[in-house]
Amino acid sequence: MKVSDLRGILQYVPRFREKIFVVALDGEVAASPNLGNLLLDLAVLRSLSIRVILVHGCGAQLLTLAKQRGVEVSSSDGTGVTDETTLKLAIEASHAVLQELMEGLAQVDLRAAYANVIIAHPAGILNGVDTLQTGRVERVDTATLQFFLNEGIIPVVPPLGFDGEGHTFRVNSDSMALEIAEAVRALKIIYLSHRGTLRLGDTMVRQLSVAETEEVLRKKRPQLEPSMVSKLEHAARACRSGIARVHLLDGTQNEALLSEIFSHEGIGTMVYSNEYQQMRRALKKDLRAIMALIRESVANAELVKRSRADLLATLDDYWLLEIDRNLAGCVAVHFYPGQETAELACLYISKSHEGKGYGRKLMSFAEQLAAKKGARHLLALSTQAYNFFQQKGGFTEVSADALPPERRRKWEASGRNSKIMRKDTALAPQAVPTTLPD
Ligand SMILES: CC(C)(COP(=O)(O)OP(=O)(O)OC[C@H]1O[C@@H](n2cnc3c(N)ncnc32)[C@H](O)[C@@H]1OP(=O)(O)O)[C@@H](O)C(=O)NCCC(=O)NCCS
Repeated sequence: MKVSDLRGILQYVPRFREKIFVVALDGEVAASPNLGNLLLDLAVLRSLSIRVILVHGCGAQLLTLAKQRGVEVSSSDGTGVTDETTLKLAIEASHAVLQELMEGLAQVDLRAAYANVIIAHPAGILNGVDTLQTGRVERVDTATLQFFLNEGIIPVVPPLGFDGEGHTFRVNSDSMALEIAEAVRALKIIYLSHRGTLRLGDTMVRQLSVAETEEVLRKKRPQLEPSMVSKLEHAARACRSGIARVHLLDGTQNEALLSEIFSHEGIGTMVYSNEYQQMRRALKKDLRAIMALIRESVANAELVKRSRADLLATLDDYWLLEIDRNLAGCVAVHFYPGQETAELACLYISKSHEGKGYGRKLMSFAEQLAAKKGARHLLALSTQAYNFFQQKGGFTEVSADALPPERRRKWEASGRNSKIMRKDTALAPQAVPTTLPD
């Protein structure tokens, strides 16, 4: 790991400190050889003062028990009908998972407690079918959960609920995780299942807005496994009710949890509720969109005119700001080899996004990029936004002597008489964020 990786990771720490993550793992994951690694990852989260509530399923264990005993079960995942036999096996399977988790958590020095916090009622008669002992969450005992969390104890919640008369109900763990997350206002839900990342055709889907998630459910439902449908449905509901991020991960994969939480790209599927902003490098297919984006500013002489060929020649220097996948701004950082100097150019924020701090974010992004690549100074040439660079970015005006020779020739030839601003990059943090907010 490089030092810059560590910087990238550490930027998340203040944002996550004391926040609640609901981690929901399917029975299959609890039975996988990766469980030990996952619990170690939870220990890392705890060491960063992230509050973890662990919810588990028991479907895989229930099916194994049924096979061993030669009995039929009416449902394995806590949806549909739960008859008496199935409920008994579910209680046994759930206790076995709980025991496994408690042992594993003790091994990584984490304090944990079985949390009986789900007050459930019968799911009732659905589409004319009595679902018997299948329960739905009536209420979450948040006081007990908060008590455990305040004491630094991980509450472990099994997929069972109880009513006031001591009846037990089988509850689906996906829906339980959602209800708990809503009740405690969790920052994230992390669903860990076997093959838990969304794949559409050959494409691994990394990010989905709530609207896109609902569209996938409308259009692609028949192609998806029932477990994925359930995760997507609950993720969309969670985001609609104010939980910012839901992550769907393959819990059988080593380091999946930490890689997803602490890297910009992630390795699972993230369903997000708010605007998703990211910086990404410009590609050839973006040329037309970039030219359309800056057209007006070029016409007003705020930005210098660039032909398609000019853009193409320096395309690798261009970065795009996307908000909910729409192009909202751009910035280029040109480097002058051997000069320890970089130039911020073509900074533009679309009219509809102006005044929201994006210009400043792109300016500091350019500065961090320049610093990371070893430039000690960042230049910016502007005819109309020099105040912006000075007042909002800490640039100071310098003479044309500060320009690298080849750049000076171009500046003289252009006749634009742009003001030349410069800033030392030494103070810029060196990690370059590609995802702006969380
Ligand atoms: C300049 C520009 C990038 C600012 O983007 P933005 O997202 O609106 O900026 P932010 O939201 O981060 O900052 C807004 C602040 O900057 C100020 N600001 C915006 N444009 C400014 C300008 N040309 N001169 C001085 N200050 C300016 C705003 O008044 C506001 O001030 P406040 O926070 O005190 O209210 C954007 O207006 C733009 O694309 N302009 C046209 C292209 C251009 O001139 N680019 C620079 C040449 S490379």
